[in-house]
Amino acid sequence: MPTVLITGANRGIGLELTRQYLRDDWEVIATCRSPADAADLNELACDHLRVEPLDVTDHASIDALASRLRGKAIDVLINNAGIIGPVPIAEHIDRQHFGSIDYAVWEQVLRTNTFGPVRMAEALLPNILAGEQKKIVTLSSTVGSIVERDTAAFAYATSKTAINKAMSLLAALLREQGVIVALVCPGYVKTRMDFGTADIEIPDSAAGLRTLIGSYTLADSGSFRRFNGETIAW
Ligand SMILES: NC(=O)c1ccc[n+]([C@@H]2O[C@H](COP(=O)([O-])OP(=O)(O)OC[C@H]3O[C@@H](n4cnc5c(N)ncnc54)[C@H](OP(=O)(O)O)[C@@H]3O)[C@@H](O)[C@H]2O)c1
Repeated sequence: MPTVLITGANRGIGLELTRQYLRDDWEVIATCRSPADAADLNELACDHLRVEPLDVTDHASIDALASRLRGKAIDVLINNAGIIGPVPIAEHIDRQHFGSIDYAVWEQVLRTNTFGPVRMAEALLPNILAGEQKKIVTLSSTVGSIVERDTAAFAYATSKTAINKAMSLLAALLREQGVIVALVCPGYVKTRMDFGTADIEIPDSAAGLRTLIGSYTLADSGSFRRFNGETIAW
């Protein structure tokens, strides 16, 4: 039974990925900040679901998870946890707009979306190397693309651009060890990140992502693709 570790699994895309991998008989290590409050995740309880506490901005929390998982092979690490910024988004988005940038917000978004996935990969690399599939997948966004999409949200966009670069560096570093490092955009999905115009249902995005992740070979390492498989220009 292959094993996937998913961060931010208590809601949105992470919760649905958890549901779908469980349905396909994967062992899922589902992490979230507060398992006691993760009612939707806890409803999925079964013998191949393990729920673990994890705040990706707290490196001690990441190290503690890594030590609990010492010796455990992980086939796929999905760095899903992320923030767009303070919510409700509409009330706070000015804090990411040029002229009224709140640099504390920017720092928090970078800590979560950029440092978090890299720190997870650093801490769990032994587990990934022990797995058969050896995949590290990070949820990025088309708004992180320099050429494809403009957004006024400086913090969110740059956090995704930076993680794209970081993971493409990691792809090159880990290629010889057979590790596939990939970036994916889930589309504009109807989660808490929806400004009101999202057009993709959560199960459709998660299903597309799973198909894409399942299809990866080492030749796909360093790729940046949409949930439907389209390549996204950097
Ligand atoms: N929805 C979209 O249209 C869209 C588009 C492009 C990319 N993405 C990316 O897709 C990923 C999933 O987003 P989503 O749409 O499912 O959003 P969501 O519904 O807001 O879910 C985000 C998840 O990340 C978790 N999280 C946030 N900060 C965390 C931290 N410090 N430590 C651990 N977990 C943390 C949240 O936990 P709490 O419940 O505790 O806050 C939640 O489980 C994100 O990386 C996002 O940037 C989404």
